[in-house]
Amino acid sequence: MGKVVAVVNQKGGVGKTSVTLGLASAARQRGHQVLVVDLDPQGASTWVLGVDAERVKRSAADALGSARSGALRDVIVDSTWGHLVDVAPAGPSLQQHETARSGLENLISGRSAARLRKTLSGVTRSYGIVLVDCPPSLGELTTNALTAADLALLVVEPTALSLRGVEPVADLIETVWGRDNSRLDLAGVVVNRMPARGADAAMRFEDLARTVGESAVWSPAIPQRISVAEAASARRPIHDLGSRARDVAEVFDRLYDQLWQLAKPERA
Ligand SMILES: Nc1ncnc2c1ncn2[C@@H]1O[C@H](COP(=O)(O)OP(=O)(O)O)[C@@H](O)[C@H]1O
Ligand SMILES: [Mg+2]
Repeated sequence: MGKVVAVVNQKGGVGKTSVTLGLASAARQRGHQVLVVDLDPQGASTWVLGVDAERVKRSAADALGSARSGALRDVIVDSTWGHLVDVAPAGPSLQQHETARSGLENLISGRSAARLRKTLSGVTRSYGIVLVDCPPSLGELTTNALTAADLALLVVEPTALSLRGVEPVADLIETVWGRDNSRLDLAGVVVNRMPARGADAAMRFEDLARTVGESAVWSPAIPQRISVAEAASARRPIHDLGSRARDVAEVFDRLYDQLWQLAKPERA
């Protein structure tokens, strides 16, 4: 049974999709079967995984809409990254599952926070790990991801603005944990786009460690590298870019190894 990992932050552009795909690439490198569930209506990870929007007949939105047990299996397609990587593609109608209300309000109103969990039932068995790429909000879709997840992985940038967003995410994780999903754990906080030098980023890194606790911040941080964007534009795994992406690929390997320690089916 592969564990379900929700990759979250309410901000766009911090690197949720890049981290999801970098970890999927590292999983593939390890020979692990991985499913990427794309819950962002923008569908960036669906596209990078080689699935064009016009080819998507059924999307994760359809599975959420039916909320039938195991329904996600019917929308999963092969990616172009090889047989180890599958995708439950996004579609524009995912937007209909998002509401303007916050995740907390949705929970109070009893909205369907457990839909994704239900549709994943029995599906996780086929995978070593399931990565859920979340939209840039803390609405119903992210709440569904957290309700289905064993682990939440928070992605932040080392800027003051980005760090201000950590608390609301931590609050939502705690709320979902308390109400609907007591299996949920915070895997950790991954810092993305770390500049090679810069006193400000280093200071923010320390602020973050103070806010969430030193042990929650994963090391190494992911450096700011053009190859991350290049891999996405080429719709390829970062590990396939060769020497120019080797250092970032190695960072993803190390982060994936930490994740796998928490996510592997039998804990050693
Ligand atoms: N470590 C990095 N170095 C350079 N560019 C990055 C890095 N991480 C993300 N990017 C780029 O920043 C943009 C936003 O990243 P993305 O992963 O799509 O964020 P999100 O999913 O949180 O909206 C993309 O164009 C991506 O290629
Ligand atoms: Mg994204």
